[in-house]
Amino acid sequence: MTRLPGPPLWRQGLIGLRMRRDPLGELIELHRRHGPVFATGAGPLKFVWLIGPDAHRELFVGVDRFAWRDVTKPVVVVDGETALVVSDGEDHERRRRIVQPAFNIRRIDRHVPLMVEEARRTFARWVPDGEVNIYEDLRRCIRRIVIRALFGDRLSTRADELGDRLQPALDFVDRPLPQVKIDLPGTPWHRARAARRRTDELVFAEIDARRKSGVDADADDVLGWLLDASDPEGEGGQLSDQEVRDQVVSLIAAGYETTSAAVGWTIWAALANGGVWDRLREEVGDGPVDAERLRGLTYLDGVVSESLRLWPPGAVAGRKLLEPIDAAGYGIPAGAIALYSPFVTQRLPEVWPDPLSFRPERWDKNDPRYVEPVHLSYVPFGAGPRRCLGFAFALTEIKVLLAEAVRTVDLELLTTEEPRRQSIASMRPRGGVRVRVRGVREPAARATT
Ligand code: HEM
Repeated sequence: MTRLPGPPLWRQGLIGLRMRRDPLGELIELHRRHGPVFATGAGPLKFVWLIGPDAHRELFVGVDRFAWRDVTKPVVVVDGETALVVSDGEDHERRRRIVQPAFNIRRIDRHVPLMVEEARRTFARWVPDGEVNIYEDLRRCIRRIVIRALFGDRLSTRADELGDRLQPALDFVDRPLPQVKIDLPGTPWHRARAARRRTDELVFAEIDARRKSGVDADADDVLGWLLDASDPEGEGGQLSDQEVRDQVVSLIAAGYETTSAAVGWTIWAALANGGVWDRLREEVGDGPVDAERLRGLTYLDGVVSESLRLWPPGAVAGRKLLEPIDAAGYGIPAGAIALYSPFVTQRLPEVWPDPLSFRPERWDKNDPRYVEPVHLSYVPFGAGPRRCLGFAFALTEIKVLLAEAVRTVDLELLTTEEPRRQSIASMRPRGGVRVRVRGVREPAARATT
């Protein structure tokens, strides 16, 4: 194999230190120096980075050529052994075939009223002149939305309790690697294990209750679907209780921090860029949004797409190669861990005109400034057969929360400076997004649950 470009061995230590401090800033610098394909690290911590559409071309084709678990296994402690995100090969294909229909557009549309209700319930607590960390408040709201969408009304009164039970386990996975598993009272690992046990008690009790009372796959919630659905290509094979538990918990884990981060960045960008909030309000108009109306809101769509371009919460993702691939003319050998970065790719000047400007119009096909995005240059949810399962759910949720915000509250950023980035798997605004509530336009619905 020809040696891949990248920093020489003697600089790896320094690069490692910089990566710890500002991984995405360092990646941009490495790409500038070495081009679309480069390697960092050594031994088991050697990574091959593929940046830009040319380097991506083979990365998103064919599931059999890659294994995900080698990269995603740190989440097993929360998600469980059979979660989609850590499954490979036939197991993955079977589970994905069963779970995927729970996230088709028709079923997602049915969750829109509960998204609106939860948004209004959050804004109902805000008072004029109050100061709010909008990221933190909406994060809690998003956790309730995903839990209610998964479990339906039966558990809706316990959504916060379930979220609170799970949180220490999610926090453990979010800690920098390597994971330190010391099981003594007070350690993060001890708290994570206890959190998983307490979450599982609730989830298995619910699975049991549903099985006993008869499962309804047509119920709007995802759990009902998972308990009843069978593999369309298998011989009626259904998910076991353990598999159902793992999908449910991993869907909360995959969907909640990422979507919260996206909402945080989007609201910050909409407030920090003059005229965007007002234009959104004009487009959204009066009255709560519904699924049908949401589809017609092109400016809102542009704002969300542009926010996910500049601040994709899944800023880095990857897989292990089971066979060699070609990336922008370089042969990458089997066994390599290949990583891609939506964050770096989506800021490349060679594919994005004026890449660092927040320009929602670039997504509007009727706007003269529209430029068709280059294939595989926009990958906030990945692409191909392992594309994010919840992308449509996430997009709907972000749009509902933003639409309800512009409709009901007038906000002012306490600081317009761009927040610093925290984490790369769910890249979020460090410290959140602090705003002053200048006014509440429409008294939002009072909390009902
Ligand atoms: C803005 C929010 C979100 C972002 C940016 C995001 C991003 C991603 C990315 C980059 C991947 C990895 C793709 C790859 O391996 O190449 C992924 C996978 C996944 N996401 Fe999301 N995601 C979001 C929200 C959600 C939501 C709401 C759910 C579910 C409720 C979800 C469920 C999943 C699952 C299950 C996978 C693994 C799919 C598989 O391996 O077959 N995500 N997501």
